[in-house]
Amino acid sequence: MEIRRVAVIGAGTMGHGIAELFAMNGFLVSISDISDEILRKALDRISWSINKLYSKGRISESPDFIMSRIRTSVSIEEVCKDADFVIEAVPERMEVKKAVLERADMSAPKHAIIASNTSSLPISELASFMRRSERFLGMHFFNPPVLMKLVEIVRGKETSEDVVEAAAELAKKLGKTPVVLRKDVPGFIVNRILVRIMNTACMLVHKGVHSVNEVDSAVVLKLGFPMGIFELADYSGVDVFYYILKAVKERGVDISICPLMEELFQRKKLGVKKGEGFYKYPDPGKYVKPELNPEAAQAVDECLLISPGVNEAACLLMEEVASKEDIDTAVKLGLGYPKGIFEYADEFGIGRVVASLMELKERLGSKEFAPASLLMKMLKENKVGKVAGQGFYDYISRYTSLSLDKDYERGIAILRMNRPEKLNAVTMETLDELERALDELDHDEKVRVIIITGSGRAFCAGADVSDLLKLSPFDAMKYSMRFQRVAQRMESSLKPVIVAINGYCLGGGMEIALGADVRIACESAKLGQPEVNLGIMPGGGATQRLHKLVGRSKACRLMMTGDLIGAREAGEMGLVDEVVPDEELMNKAVDLALKLAEKPSLSLAAIKTALRSEKDFALESSLFGLIFSTQDSREGVKAFLEKRKAKLTGK
Ligand code: NAI
Repeated sequence: MEIRRVAVIGAGTMGHGIAELFAMNGFLVSISDISDEILRKALDRISWSINKLYSKGRISESPDFIMSRIRTSVSIEEVCKDADFVIEAVPERMEVKKAVLERADMSAPKHAIIASNTSSLPISELASFMRRSERFLGMHFFNPPVLMKLVEIVRGKETSEDVVEAAAELAKKLGKTPVVLRKDVPGFIVNRILVRIMNTACMLVHKGVHSVNEVDSAVVLKLGFPMGIFELADYSGVDVFYYILKAVKERGVDISICPLMEELFQRKKLGVKKGEGFYKYPDPGKYVKPELNPEAAQAVDECLLISPGVNEAACLLMEEVASKEDIDTAVKLGLGYPKGIFEYADEFGIGRVVASLMELKERLGSKEFAPASLLMKMLKENKVGKVAGQGFYDYISRYTSLSLDKDYERGIAILRMNRPEKLNAVTMETLDELERALDELDHDEKVRVIIITGSGRAFCAGADVSDLLKLSPFDAMKYSMRFQRVAQRMESSLKPVIVAINGYCLGGGMEIALGADVRIACESAKLGQPEVNLGIMPGGGATQRLHKLVGRSKACRLMMTGDLIGAREAGEMGLVDEVVPDEELMNKAVDLALKLAEKPSLSLAAIKTALRSEKDFALESSLFGLIFSTQDSREGVKAFLEKRKAKLTGK
């Protein structure tokens, strides 16, 4: 079934964003709310946001055109009557949802899927208000829907598998990453983990163990959270989290709502919108970022703050709600944490996590911190995390800052730099892993072509600048050599390496790209060697490679001005070989990889080796001679003469 027409009920914070997202992706959208004025405001917000995205070059379609796909009505029946897909984003109150869902169910065509954007209400309970419970499910977007990558997909007891699959496909069409829960559990994955962490932090403040500022400083500065825990509570609204806490507690999750949270809620100190929450805001409604304090952060054991989240996630894993990878994806994309909750656990070590939970149990006097049996089992089996080589994940062969997908059937491998929250900035660990992955791929006979790309908005934004601060001159020299080795390793690989530049490609990122045999960039990519702007210079090989592609004067200009250039300009100067529409980048890279995978691998290896030494014509002749000793060369020549397809063996 094709979904073209979408109805969104509720045009508030989430509803207007969801409608915008659908319209931006080509769907015809009808929005409903209780008054024309609210609908008008929603249209204004959408139009403002689309225009902003357009002016920043993030979307290419004209805002007017996108807006022309949206209509509004105060009648739920009117917006649902011809919809293929309906999603409700009305307030998180059972009776409101019930009334809205009943009306949507009555008026939407039989084939339509109906979804709820609820954050915490059980899908099976909501399904009971409808006749089409098998075509109903939870689709939990995050705020703001246009930017947040995650959608939790929650099936009720009766939701059909087809509907779950269709919803996951729909999320992908919207550019989102769906995480499908195997069970309908209170708070789903993200909120369940978040409110546990938030409520514990609140209890620590309530008991006077730490201050609000200490907690927020520690989570941002030490754990890398995008916002402090209390900053987030105030930003989204203390009431939002209070209701989620209540909803999960009422449905059997062992959690005692922190009295401080209760008090703020009762006294309507709900955060930014009310001018006061955990922090004070002189201008109610105007968000002010709290000041963080590195010294305050030092006063906190950050493992104490994250361990309750690990414990909760371990319970979700034991309940088989989702795989550990899916839970980590949900945490990274839904909360913007730089690492998954299990990745944090493995880094701290399971022993330390369990000790933290015991300490919380003792200090806060609640059995809700009793370590999950899974954690105890891991301790017993010595699967205690990264140091042991095994924890939630296996570290013996695993990459943490990369992902590696091998498609043996087609003979290609896609190596993806995978720290999207850091624009794939490269750490020492990434460099080690890149080299290790290239070694692995070189030795893997079933892989014939390698594609390197990045996840998120960047190919790679260069070195993680925080690493640079610590370097002495001698260390910096070693660091530069270390960086150079990656591009050299790409050049010395006997397999073609294609780089698919999917966004920012800066500094060390560009130097990695320069090591590839072919560079394809998407239209919105930005490239440059901005090191000079940091008072340093390129150290990952740009001075040796860039001029060979673009000529000396353009290379000098790029390195000396530090200016960024767009993909088109990069294409014109020969820095990239092809520039393609954003959405076609991977298809084009894969098409080329498939074409190369068909070619005799030894010829490709010989071409690469000869090219490396460039003006070394003698080497070219020697390799040309050598290639004649291969079976493939004999078969290739023979097949050509016999006008048939060669049967290549790689020998
Ligand atoms: P909101 O209060 O901003 O918007 C709700 C909208 O629904 C309002 O415009 C209201 O006028 C409208 N409404 C109320 N009764 C209605 C009815 N009978 N018919 C049509 N429209 C009606 O709420 P928000 O924050 O957008 O939340 C909506 C849903 O999304 C809730 O279930 C919430 O749990 C969930 N959610 C909220 C997130 C957030 O960060 N705000 C994040 C993810 C999910």
